[in-house]
This record gives sequence, structure tokens and C-alpha cells, in this order.
Amino acid sequence: MPSAEPPSPYLPGAPFFQYRSGELWAEDVPVAELARTYGTPLFVYSAAAVRAALAAYQRGLAGRDALICYAMKANSTLAILQLFARAGCGFDIVSGGELERALRAGAAPERIVFSGVGKTRDEMRRALQAGIGCFNVESMAELNALDAVARELGVRAPVSVRVNPDVDAQTHPYISTGLKDNKFGIAHDQALDAYRYAASRPGLHIIGIDCHIGSQITSTGPYLDALERVLDLVEAIEAEGIALHHLDLGGGLGIEYHGEQPPAADALWQALLARLDARGHGRRRLLVEPGRSLIGNAGICVTQVLYAKPGATKNFLIVDAAMNDLPRPAMYDAYHAIAPVQPRHDQPSTVWDVVGPVCESGDWLGRERALAVQAGDWLAVGSAGAYCMSMASHYNTRGKAAEVLVSGDRVQLIRARESVSDLWRQERALALD
Ligand code: LLP
Repeated sequence: MPSAEPPSPYLPGAPFFQYRSGELWAEDVPVAELARTYGTPLFVYSAAAVRAALAAYQRGLAGRDALICYAMKANSTLAILQLFARAGCGFDIVSGGELERALRAGAAPERIVFSGVGKTRDEMRRALQAGIGCFNVESMAELNALDAVARELGVRAPVSVRVNPDVDAQTHPYISTGLKDNKFGIAHDQALDAYRYAASRPGLHIIGIDCHIGSQITSTGPYLDALERVLDLVEAIEAEGIALHHLDLGGGLGIEYHGEQPPAADALWQALLARLDARGHGRRRLLVEPGRSLIGNAGICVTQVLYAKPGATKNFLIVDAAMNDLPRPAMYDAYHAIAPVQPRHDQPSTVWDVVGPVCESGDWLGRERALAVQAGDWLAVGSAGAYCMSMASHYNTRGKAAEVLVSGDRVQLIRARESVSDLWRQERALALD
């Protein structure tokens, strides 16, 4: 009888990242080949995975007047933005830097929405000149500033007020944004006044309403709660004769890191649309701002084992990726799956803490992982498409990793590995004594 295939290690992202003939593939390319060619740490993205994630939103919103604005803070590498721009997406931006990146990637300015609590007057000016679609305004002070800037330019700024609906997204406190004590949005009970005020300002043109309650949300309930609260407001605002053209429900849908089963985007939208229809708002234009759910499971980070360091109470596996490449474990205690690129079935597994070379005890990528590995082996860190490269830093004077995009059996380098001289380009040698 032929012996059964050994089970493959756990790694989210199938079928775009999966084991075939005993090793990990990214679409039709062996990951080991990528590591050999481009070195490590290396981010590997699957174009088909991005398209599949986007298709789930497109299916969910089919037949509606809707715009998907990719929240580019999740991953703002130009080639990734180009994938979304070419698919017709808009962008949710939160800084002047993101605005320039989106435009550079070919974004249609009228499909850009500008969120964030601290837009500067310069950023507002540039965004108005570029002709963006909407400012999601987060405070009365910002309404005032935007009104003044728009009048200086002789234009009217298209605005939505970001409402804080005070619902619990049931996620990590650092990425929960829709509660009263978060810094985001205008409180639900002050929103009507904010709209009255905005309607009276000559530099502002109200076009919608916006909310975003948090990130890595894994159930439908918080979205439905937020929707109900926002619709109550829509009705109150429109009763005063202020028309709201669109409803922006933000982003936040979670992904699988370690067995989570968040609703698929199309299932989530089916539920939300049913509620919208039931309340008679089904024909309103809809905006969504997903980030993580469009790119998170479309990327892995490949790292090489430098040293195995068994100890009395802990065994450490020291790898060449670190908290500067993958900051989520250190920042949020986040779990990312870690799996061998070429699993060894000829040795027993050992329990390791997988750590990077950075000089901090907080520099860990995974704790207590059973792995059968040796120095020189490659490991894949799963669900690394979102909030990894875009949050990467140069700590310990480590250059940022390279990034490749795979499409079928084709591979493109979309970010070259940074050299050390890239890191001090803006610095000046000491000239004072
Ligand atoms: N819209 C607004 C206004 C946001 O603040 C965010 C994320 C999004 C959309 C996109 O949310 P998503 O669909 O990606 O959940 N660095 C954290 C996540 C921070 C999210 C911040 N805002 C992490 O690594 O978990």
C-alpha cells in the first residue's frame, strides 16, 4: 500500500499559496526558487489572490451603485496600488504621502476619499487641487479648516462627516476605532449639529456620511449595529433637508491568521444590503474602504533560519526577518502562521520561539511553534500582505525587504531590497564642532 502523504503545514492563503509535491508554491512558482533568486526576507504577493479578494466585494455589491476604495495604508507599494487602480478601484487615503502615491499609481482623483483625524491645511489644499472625491471629516475644527482652505482656493470641498457610532467592533483595542473613547470621528449625538454647521459653510459641499468601526472584525454583528446607528442619523439629517448622496461604511473586515472564519465579503454585503433594503435605503450610493481583506492573505514573508539556539527553558529559532519587517506580533501580540517552505519529514519537530536579529526581547515573530527545521531553511510567515511592509521600519539600520508579485508562472520584482546607503541618503555629515 502506498504510504499516505504527510500532512502539509498550516498556512492561510490557499489556493494561491499551497503545498505541491512537498513544497510551498506561490501560484505556479516554487517559493524556494523566489528565495534563492531574490534573497530573504522577501515579501511574495499573489496577483490572483488580490483579484479573488476584490471579486468577493464586487460580487457582494453587484447591481448597486458602489465604489470600492482600497484602504492603501494596508499595503501601499506602487505596483499593488496599480493592480487596484486598473481594476477600477478608488482609494482611501490618510495622508498627503498616500495621495501622491495613489496618483502616481494612476488612481482617478475623483475616486479618492481622504480619511484621518489630522489632515494638515497643505494636505487639504493639495487634495482639493487634485480634485479628490470626498473628505471624510473627523472634527468640528477640521470642518472649519477645510472650509477656509476651500474658500481660499475658490472651490467647495466635497465632505462626509465621519460618525463615531459607539459600537464595539470586538477586536484588539489598538485597532478598534468606533467607540466613544477613540479619537476617531464625531460622536453620534453631535453628528446632526456637525451636519447643520457644515451645511451653513460656503466652502463645504456635503455629499455623504461615513463610519469605520475598527479592523480585523470577524463577525457581521458589529457592522449591522453600526449600519443601524448610521441609518438613524441619515434619516435625521435628511429630515432637515440636507441630502446625503452616499453612505461609506469603512473597512475592517477580518482575515484568517490562525483559524478565524470571518464572513466572506460577499456574504457580509448580502447581510448589510438586506438591512439597507429593509430600511428603504437600498438605492443609495455605497462606498467601502477595505484594506486588510483585499491584500492580507495575498502575501507571505519568506525568511531564512540563521541559527537554532536551544536553551534551558526556551528554544530560539533566529531568522533573518525581524520586527522591523513584521511589526504586528510586537505591536499587537498578533499571530502569524509560520511554516517551512520545504518541510522536512525526516526529523522530529521541536518547539521554538521564532525571533529576529533586532536587539529587543519584543522582536519575536511567533511563540512556541512546533517546527522541524535546520539553519539555512526557509520559513513562510503567513497572512503578511497587509500592515507588514507598509508598517516596516529601518530600526537597527536594517533596509526594507524586497517584494515580488507572482501572477501564474510569472514573477516581477516590485520593490528592490534597500541598500544601506539608501538609509542615510537624507542625512548630513556632522558640520558643527
Ligand atoms: N478606513 C479607515 C478610516 C481606517 O482607519 C482603516 C484602517 C481602514 C479603512 C481599513 O481597515 P481594514 O479593512 O484594513 O481593516 N495596523 C493594524 C490595522 C490598523 C487599521 C487602521 N485603520 C494592524 O496591523 O492590525
